[in-house]
Amino acid sequence: MDWRQRTYCGRVRPTDAGREVLLMGWVDAVRDHGSLIFVHLRDVSGIVQLVFDPAVDARVRSAALGLREEFVIQVRGKVRERTAGTENPNLETGDVEVYVSEMEILAKAETLPFKISEKAMVFGEALQANPENVDEELRLRFRYLDIRRPSVQANLRGRYEMMKRIRQTLDTRQFVEVETPILTRSTPEGARDYLVPSRIHQGRFYALPQSPQLFKQLLMMGGMDRYFQITRCFRDEDLRPNRQPEFTQLDLEASFVDEEFIHDLVEEITVRIFEVGGITLERPFPRMTYDQAMESYGTDRPDLRFALEFQDVTDVVSGTSYTIFRSIAGKGGCIKGFRIPGAADRMSKNLLQNEYAMKIVPSLGGKGMTWMKHTEGGLQSNIVRFFSEAELEALIRRFGTREGDVLMMVADLSRHEVNTVLGRLRLHVAEHLSLVPDGRYCPVWVTDFPLFELKDERISSMHHPFTMPGREDFDPEDRQELLSLRARAYDLVVNGEELGGGSVRIHRPDLQRRVFRALGLEPAEVEDKFGFFLEALGLGAPPHAGLALGLDRMAAMVLGARSIREVIAFPKNRRAFCPLTRAPADADPEHLQELGIRVSDAGDAEAGARGKTSPFASGDRKPKPRKKVSMARVRQVAKLARLSLREEEMEAIRRDLEQVLGYVDQLAALDTEGVPPMSHVLPVTNVWREDGEGSAGPVEEILSNAPERNGRFFQVPKILEG
Ligand code: AMO
Repeated sequence: MDWRQRTYCGRVRPTDAGREVLLMGWVDAVRDHGSLIFVHLRDVSGIVQLVFDPAVDARVRSAALGLREEFVIQVRGKVRERTAGTENPNLETGDVEVYVSEMEILAKAETLPFKISEKAMVFGEALQANPENVDEELRLRFRYLDIRRPSVQANLRGRYEMMKRIRQTLDTRQFVEVETPILTRSTPEGARDYLVPSRIHQGRFYALPQSPQLFKQLLMMGGMDRYFQITRCFRDEDLRPNRQPEFTQLDLEASFVDEEFIHDLVEEITVRIFEVGGITLERPFPRMTYDQAMESYGTDRPDLRFALEFQDVTDVVSGTSYTIFRSIAGKGGCIKGFRIPGAADRMSKNLLQNEYAMKIVPSLGGKGMTWMKHTEGGLQSNIVRFFSEAELEALIRRFGTREGDVLMMVADLSRHEVNTVLGRLRLHVAEHLSLVPDGRYCPVWVTDFPLFELKDERISSMHHPFTMPGREDFDPEDRQELLSLRARAYDLVVNGEELGGGSVRIHRPDLQRRVFRALGLEPAEVEDKFGFFLEALGLGAPPHAGLALGLDRMAAMVLGARSIREVIAFPKNRRAFCPLTRAPADADPEHLQELGIRVSDAGDAEAGARGKTSPFASGDRKPKPRKKVSMARVRQVAKLARLSLREEEMEAIRRDLEQVLGYVDQLAALDTEGVPPMSHVLPVTNVWREDGEGSAGPVEEILSNAPERNGRFFQVPKILEG
């Protein structure tokens, strides 16, 4: 194999016509045209068409009959310009083809689990494979095949380009990349730790870092002045679409600086990163306090691509004869809402009352919703008769409504409840009325977070315990005061997604101790967990501040990927499982013995652990232990199905079956009492059997099973994924 002479497939151009080239790559597609055989050869740079012509070499052409998709081959041949009308504008090399005179098959490929080719061989043919059409579990199981697709490679390259720019930018600002330990002690960021048992210190565990927070602060105390790291973090938490158990941060920290330095630096980096996706961001990024964000958008990560900003109308309607509003206002509650411009035509009375007020808002956690439409005659709804002319006029003024607008209002005794329900409703409405513009990116800094929040009735840090409070003269025993404190923390939010977060840090041990005390940590526990850190703070710590950006989230947004799994080479699935390597896996008994670990009961332990973190956990109902599947059972099923399986395939199927049954057990443990019937995980489309279409019979029969119907359709509540 003479790699020195190699030409990359995607680089062959008409100017190469007449030249002999040596190409290496994968067979993307084969088309047998009788005497001629056409092959798309793919390598990292792109695809070029090969022609096997008996007039060039009959033996080579015959050998090409044996080629199958994803064979790895090396060919030598002459470049020719394609004849007019046979060009393929889908390919960068579509004006040329290579007439093959020599071929060597370097490796064969068995039948593939899914198609790799993304480029049609003939112009006008539908694109054959779109990663979105292949089951994600299958893609992850054969991730290396998935990575052969140009679109997946483009994501990994885009991500690399982002990292390069980060390093370049930070280098010019005198930052130094320093690696920090992976086997360490707990670094609290609010999630559970992944633990690693120690063989040498039996019964003891390392924790994988939730972030390098403590180490980067120690580097500041070490006088490194400006640190960064592109690093892996590990968090055992409930998975969401934008979370992975291990993910990558751009983590940075600088000494003798304040929040302005960090804002400026991170804006510069963010702008450069977004350029990779051809996106221009305006600087400076707008800022909004946590309170403003909650009051106007009901969330600390506001999506500013669309308005639907909240207005408080408590004062306007406190004297109304509409009982709900009057009584809530009278008891010190609040009434807020937002205006949906020009939506009156698209939102019928039925939709607003029977869907939004009765179903959607309750499914978003609200008790109810009041709506009004601004029509020719002013505000209209099922309840306007309870409002005086003056009150209706005041509502119009407060919301600034015009004819054709819709108003949605929520009332509750708790202001927080009103804000959060409206926040979810705002997103729901924006999505369902397609109010979210494509191709718009709206960054915002959210600042002045509360320092503490209540979690399960306990004081806990909203960011992490190392965040500098807005003021230092607080009483660590006074809950009310603690909950009123602000933090010198900031989050970077883009399009409603938190891309990064950071803060000015506490750099004095006395203040750090008081924060630990406020968090309810006993002095002995503080000493045990953070003694080394407090000691360092007491030995000369400079004022410092920093931040971490979630690179996976950023890459997914910049590259337009639908999930962060698309921009991670080997991600875990939604159940924190790697379908490719089948991790996590059982450990060898000898290995466990060496570590001094005894697993009480593999099934119970796993099911129990899953129950703790799983969205399927249901009160005190305990999931059943996982069923064991014997090889004999698999053999029997394979025989019945007339499948001839290799031993290792059977073992893989056996494990798959155990997984499936384990999952079924989890589902069986689900407490569905009182849960309304639902739902769909795919985009909603109605698919009728052709023979049922038009004839009322089967449709009616099917609909007779509907928990609720809407004309000819099943009625299901909409759900939002948090
Ligand atoms: P924080 O916990 O906010 O801050 O994390 C920083 C950013 O990391 C991303 N992120 C995640 N991405 C994918 N999967 C996850 N499970 C996940 N969790 C977080 C988010 C988030 O904004 N030590 C502090 C930073 C600091 O104070 O300097 C920290 O880790 O985009």
